[in-house]
Amino acid sequence: MERLIEQEVLENQIYVMTLDRKGSSANILDRRFFREFNLHLDRIEAITNLRGLIIKSAKPSIFIAGADLNAFNQNLSVFELQSILEVGQDAFNRLAKLKITTVCAIHGMCLGGGLELALACDYRVATESKVTKLGLPEVNLGILPAWGGCSRLPRLIGLPLAMTAVLSGKIFPAVKAKKMGMVDALAYEEGLMAKALTFVEKKKARRKARSFVHSLPVRSLISSKAKANVMKLTRGNYPAPLKALEVLKASTSRTLDQSLEAERIAFLELVEGSVCKNLIRLFFLQERSKKLSLETDDVLSKMIVNKAAVLGAGVMGSGIAQWISSRKIPVFLKDIDPKQMANGLNVAKKIFDAGQKRRVFSRVEAVAGMDRITPVMNDSMLHGADLVVEAIVEKLDVKRKVFSELENHVSPGTILATNTSAISISIIAEGLKYPERLLGLHFFNPVHEMKLVEIIRGKKTSNYAVAKTIKFVKQIGKMPVVVADSPGFLVNRILMPYLFEAIRLFEMGNSIEDIDKSMLAFGMPMGPLRLLDEVGIDVSQHVAEDLIDRLESPFAESDFLKTMMKNEFYGKKNGKGFYVFDRKKKGRSSINKDVLKLRKMDLSQETDMRVLVHKMALLMVNEAARCLDEQVVESPKDVDFGMVMGTGWSPFRGGPLRYADDLGIDEVVRLLESFARNDAPHFEPCDLLKWMAKSKVKFYKETFYHPLVKGVESLSEAEGSLKSELITA
Ligand code: NAI
Repeated sequence: MERLIEQEVLENQIYVMTLDRKGSSANILDRRFFREFNLHLDRIEAITNLRGLIIKSAKPSIFIAGADLNAFNQNLSVFELQSILEVGQDAFNRLAKLKITTVCAIHGMCLGGGLELALACDYRVATESKVTKLGLPEVNLGILPAWGGCSRLPRLIGLPLAMTAVLSGKIFPAVKAKKMGMVDALAYEEGLMAKALTFVEKKKARRKARSFVHSLPVRSLISSKAKANVMKLTRGNYPAPLKALEVLKASTSRTLDQSLEAERIAFLELVEGSVCKNLIRLFFLQERSKKLSLETDDVLSKMIVNKAAVLGAGVMGSGIAQWISSRKIPVFLKDIDPKQMANGLNVAKKIFDAGQKRRVFSRVEAVAGMDRITPVMNDSMLHGADLVVEAIVEKLDVKRKVFSELENHVSPGTILATNTSAISISIIAEGLKYPERLLGLHFFNPVHEMKLVEIIRGKKTSNYAVAKTIKFVKQIGKMPVVVADSPGFLVNRILMPYLFEAIRLFEMGNSIEDIDKSMLAFGMPMGPLRLLDEVGIDVSQHVAEDLIDRLESPFAESDFLKTMMKNEFYGKKNGKGFYVFDRKKKGRSSINKDVLKLRKMDLSQETDMRVLVHKMALLMVNEAARCLDEQVVESPKDVDFGMVMGTGWSPFRGGPLRYADDLGIDEVVRLLESFARNDAPHFEPCDLLKWMAKSKVKFYKETFYHPLVKGVESLSEAEGSLKSELITA
């Protein structure tokens, strides 16, 4: 078996370990790593004249990416997990107890267990490079650092900063990590070893565990503030930061061994909970999306996009062009209106500028990013583009005309993609010379923040077009989900019934606050009425009308948004919707009292918050199940992944179908039927849910055959590779 660690002993008796997992771009920590690492420690302990140890990585952008998360996918027992924790803690304890001075020379990502290894060294030097980042992101997976991170970090940088790092799960650039004290010195990439050598000459470092900030009153004060902050951010839905807080708070008053034991106990408690399981599943769903590909014989589909074009420099077009260019792909941006073009370029520049402020881009990169966007006013300039994304007005005749003209100017191999939110791809493609190269490429707003992109396959779309577009979406660092050409595609189809239920509940007399608060507490990133304001009242009405016209089982209609528009309430874009937005006060908002007067009913109804949640959330579950039944996507995983990535759907609940499993399908059906009996037929559970309740099957884990799901024999989690070919329009 190939080695994971190379070693050499320098002339001056410095032992150098170079981490280099062959055949992988990353170093990760697993049992095999620790076995090898321990052998090196045996050797180091046995060599009497050694003067120091330097640990570095051979990878160009990753020092250590963290623990091997596949361990979570192997259904390990608590005992096995405990043993992995002990193996890691013991190895890092041995490293920390070495008599010689130890230095970690960090270039690239140093995350989770990687940083815990570095913390067990006496000193850490890191490159100033943009790729060098350090952090303990474990809470994002519902766990906590348990290979010494919660114990050694507060001893190194003090409790307040350690809490900031661990509870937020943030990843810090090397410069910031140096300011926080995680890193002792910075170096240029070429000078990293030289800098490490100067530190290895120093005496072993001592940690100040009992400084003033670690006294009981200060610890209590810091912890209660941190707890209030965590509760505000997570609404108590995420146990990991709270557990980490307890361990951190007690850590500096305990011995290191006691603190390490507390880490292990807390970790094992968390890992058993549903939140951790759902967050880890989501991690794997993201990995699955990153690996998505479609087998095709077409060699061209495997080639990368070297040049792209975007039609329309409006809200979406400017965002898409900026994003593509930020991924180092030259992009033509076309608009027919010079004013819109100027506006669009300005929007792109603002996104680059904001990225520069947040150190996402250097100044040079931001300037180069703008330079890669070439504004054009006619199609003849687009002939070299490998892929064109259309993001012009949402009108079928205009889109058709634009594509048929475009066909005269681009080569037959160019992929044509439309960012339409609702129009059928197959209908847009009618009349094209090569309809097989047209598909939907649905980005979400704001493009630079939303990771999900829906790829929509029309009736005639070829495998070549889908395969190449999947590759393109991954090339630009977004996450693809392949969706059938059906009304609202996946995300809008599931979201709209929910938003319209919120409107219905409001019309029935429930308060804006209750409606939005209930869904915030459920874990949505914003309440549904606020989301309607953000999207725009007119845009929401337009998408809803289209869906109601085309869906077989439409959701409850309402004219309320039309009434709002008559009263000039368009949402955030004109400062008034369900909320009033104060532009002078950074867009701060308060309830729009005038919108309350538009309700027909005068009674104020106070529905139990739990009922509010069930009504809104279960309509999404029902629609999600219909999507699966109609093969809009092929697996429950696609539904859950799409909703979490596309809308921020309560990540800790794992997505609407996972939520349905947890609640119990029979309970979902019972609740929906009880709501439907109350003169609200739109709650009627769909056939798939009813069948599942009767047959006692879940969306996940069980392999089952459902006669109503055409063509899909198994919806089991273990179904393995994607059966993309099953998605037919
Ligand atoms: P927008 O109104 O902000 O921008 C449309 C742009 O297209 C305008 O600058 C207009 O001058 C330009 N345009 C019109 N005809 C053109 C032509 N023949 N050639 C080139 N440019 C032309 O619209 P927005 O919001 O950016 O939407 C664009 C598309 O993206 C629509 O299909 C919309 O449904 C879809 N979409 C919109 C989202 C949103 O949140 N706004 C989200 C996802 C999709």
